[in-house]
Amino acid sequence: KVIRKLDGRRELEQQLATVLAISRVTVVPGDCEQDDAVMRDIGHAAAQMLQGYIVPPCTVAVTGGSTMATLAEMMPRVISTQQVEVLPARGGLGERVELLANTIASQLADKLGGTYRMFHVPESLSKATVERLSKEPVIQEMAERIRRADIVVHGIGDALTMALRRQLDDDTVAILQSSGAVAEAFGYYFDAQGAIVYTMNTVGMRLEDLAEIDAVIAVAGGRAKGAAIRAASRAYQIDALVTDEGAARAILEFA
Ligand code: BG6
Repeated sequence: KVIRKLDGRRELEQQLATVLAISRVTVVPGDCEQDDAVMRDIGHAAAQMLQGYIVPPCTVAVTGGSTMATLAEMMPRVISTQQVEVLPARGGLGERVELLANTIASQLADKLGGTYRMFHVPESLSKATVERLSKEPVIQEMAERIRRADIVVHGIGDALTMALRRQLDDDTVAILQSSGAVAEAFGYYFDAQGAIVYTMNTVGMRLEDLAEIDAVIAVAGGRAKGAAIRAASRAYQIDALVTDEGAARAILEFA
């Protein structure tokens, strides 16, 4: 295994904590865009960060994405069972099965010796249908459970990358571009100031719920995500961030 070094790591973490107003920041050496091993280091550091917040009995809500998938993969297996329930933070957001929040919730629960629940809300429903669905007792019960989670761990994406990955239609992509969208998290798209410019139609965790959650952990790395992380930190309160040197340097260059 190659040991990557990062001189002045503590200072870098401290500077980021100040610039982004996030109390706990972990920066791993390297850039995950350049090197897959760095993504695994992020996953490992994020797994440790998450473990530090878990005090059973508790509920953890997770989003989808490749970063969260790596976190689940890198989480060490707990031998005994513990009262930890893992839930997807939101309904369908147009991801591949391996990257779905439902999939990641089940994998993480397995590692943690906990339980999980799935949330089956198809993506690309009309607003009216989503509103009707969210009044269904089973959906309502799940959404409430999610909103009362103790810990939320989530990925942050570059707005355009996420819009294309989710195959949003041309009109929506044009709206995102003209409104200066740079970041995406939980299905919300934000501009550089952290203002919401577009919201995907789904059920579950809402942005305003995050203020009530004890620990909101963000995990995102790579130089190209620097602007997105910065925008997300302005959009809602993040308590802990796990990132890499690539993103950290990009954020500080524009600070
Ligand atoms: C999605 C999350 O599944 O993954 C988003 O819902 C996040 O909140 C995105 O922005 C990040 O994906 P990745 O693959 O870059 O970790």
